[in-house]
Amino acid sequence: MRVMWEELPTPVRSAVERRLGGRVTIAEAIEDGLTAAFIARLHTVGGGEVFVKGVPITDGDGHAAQLREVAAGALAPAVAPKTLWHFETCGWHVLASTVVTGRYPSLAPGSPDLPLMADALTIGRCRIPAGALPCYAQRWERWGSRKKLVPLRGGWLVHGDVHRHNALVDSAGRRVWLVDWAAAARGPAWLDIADTGIRLMEEGHDAATAVRWARTVPAWRTATAEALSAWCEVRCRSWTARIGARDSEPSNARLRAFLAATVA
Ligand SMILES: Nc1ncnc2c1ncn2[C@@H]1O[C@H](COP(=O)(O)OP(=O)(O)OP(=O)(O)O)[C@@H](O)[C@H]1O
Ligand SMILES: [Mg+2]
Repeated sequence: MRVMWEELPTPVRSAVERRLGGRVTIAEAIEDGLTAAFIARLHTVGGGEVFVKGVPITDGDGHAAQLREVAAGALAPAVAPKTLWHFETCGWHVLASTVVTGRYPSLAPGSPDLPLMADALTIGRCRIPAGALPCYAQRWERWGSRKKLVPLRGGWLVHGDVHRHNALVDSAGRRVWLVDWAAAARGPAWLDIADTGIRLMEEGHDAATAVRWARTVPAWRTATAEALSAWCEVRCRSWTARIGARDSEPSNARLRAFLAATVA
């Protein structure tokens, strides 16, 4: 359930205002986003502005997601807004980052945002230490044997949930920021590129064009046939288990078509 600024417990609001160094004058609610209970752009009396997300600690999944976002923020990926602070108080975990002013990219065929997405996935590539974030392969352990999941291991920062509402084109239209690092993990360098390729197909690209786009991102060359096949298989299996064979077919068919186009 979404909570407005005024509905947050008073001690939580006071703690936020202390961190901001002034009273909140405007709390702009954000329509998008489903996970965090509280999301807003907060404007302070001094004219400052921050993006804030909060979850009750009793929401185990939401809290874990927020902690992953904090861990990813500490790695300071060049394409992420800067994490400013985070704290827990009175049963809430609150996280603040710099505000990105911009719009969602279009991933449709012919969009001028497509090279900007490719640039973001190039610039955002960074190696991270073991243990900094959960292992991406582990996320899929229910859906594939340990052996099958080996190629989904890696030492790179994975955003893990790239879609157009987790990306923002800056107001100059020059670069894409990736937001919402709640699904961040440590894994292979090609992972977000493959996921974004599927997003392109959801927006009307055929598989061959989506793969052509993926090839414009340098780290794509690290995606082996074996790795892509494992990625496709575990994703199809888990989606089928989640929503049933019939409903998962359109999405699974996209994954299989993308996989087939990678060897064409
Ligand atoms: N730093 C930021 N500056 C400005 N707007 C942001 C920022 N981070 C996120 N947003 C906006 O807020 C929306 C929701 O944020 P976010 O995706 O982090 O929330 P969420 O609840 O985790 O979402 P999801 O439903 O994807 O789990 C984003 O789609 C984006 O429009
Ligand atoms: Mg999001």
